[in-house]
Amino acid sequence: MKKVILFLLLVSVLALTACGSQSTSGSGSGDGSKGKKLVVGTDAAYAPFEYLKDGKIVGFDADLLKAVMKEAKLEYELKNTGWEPLFASLKSEQVQAGISAITINDKRKETYDFSSPYFESINKILVKEGSSIKSVDDLKGKKVSVQNGTTGQDALEKKFGKGDANVKKYETNVLAIQALLNGEVDAVVADNTVVDEYAKNNPDKKMTVVDDKTNFESEYYGIAFPKGSENKKKIDKALKTVIDNGTYSKVYKKWFKVEPNLDALKK
Ligand code: ARG
Repeated sequence: MKKVILFLLLVSVLALTACGSQSTSGSGSGDGSKGKKLVVGTDAAYAPFEYLKDGKIVGFDADLLKAVMKEAKLEYELKNTGWEPLFASLKSEQVQAGISAITINDKRKETYDFSSPYFESINKILVKEGSSIKSVDDLKGKKVSVQNGTTGQDALEKKFGKGDANVKKYETNVLAIQALLNGEVDAVVADNTVVDEYAKNNPDKKMTVVDDKTNFESEYYGIAFPKGSENKKKIDKALKTVIDNGTYSKVYKKWFKVEPNLDALKK
């Protein structure tokens, strides 16, 4: 009998401790508190910035984050949250940061804080070889896929109006490209580096990339934080050091094979 009571006591103590640790880690209020791992969210379906290789998140963003966090002496865990859930998790502070080729813009700045810019980007159009589409204007009346909630979607809505039925929104950019391969759409709009790499690395798919600097604007990626996060300052400082000491260039060359234009980040 005694043994049973002891056992039950042990079980309840264990259950209580498990609950306790879960609620602290789930409260989201531990933003930056000492010794706690920061959870950094990403949508690992955006090569070469973040994608899964043998079950691991790899890419330019993953390597840059590693360098920055090492410099900032912050422990972290990179978590594949997906794109739209990432923003929801930042808002509810279930993640303490997000790195995901995220463009810094005014709309997002209302809800999130951003690090200083770490990468210059612009949208481009991916089409099949021989397509008649040569500019954003040529997309009128054509079906175009985008990843839902991206600046590619914003650019198309600015041009053709919100709710244009020809703009097809997908949960991931991989699915947006898949729609082009399947012939469901005539073009994809996404970040230049992503579509350029895709066309280059998949010659069998016979894709062409269309540039349109009159309709697409230059953008800058930043690491996103919940508003008011105390981590922003530390990470900005570390990012600056990593850019100034050549680590950023090393990571950049690993992924893009050329030297970065560091002046482009200093604006
Ligand atoms: N730069 C674009 C934006 O911020 C697209 C980023 C998509 N990133 C991703 N990991 N799927 O809207």
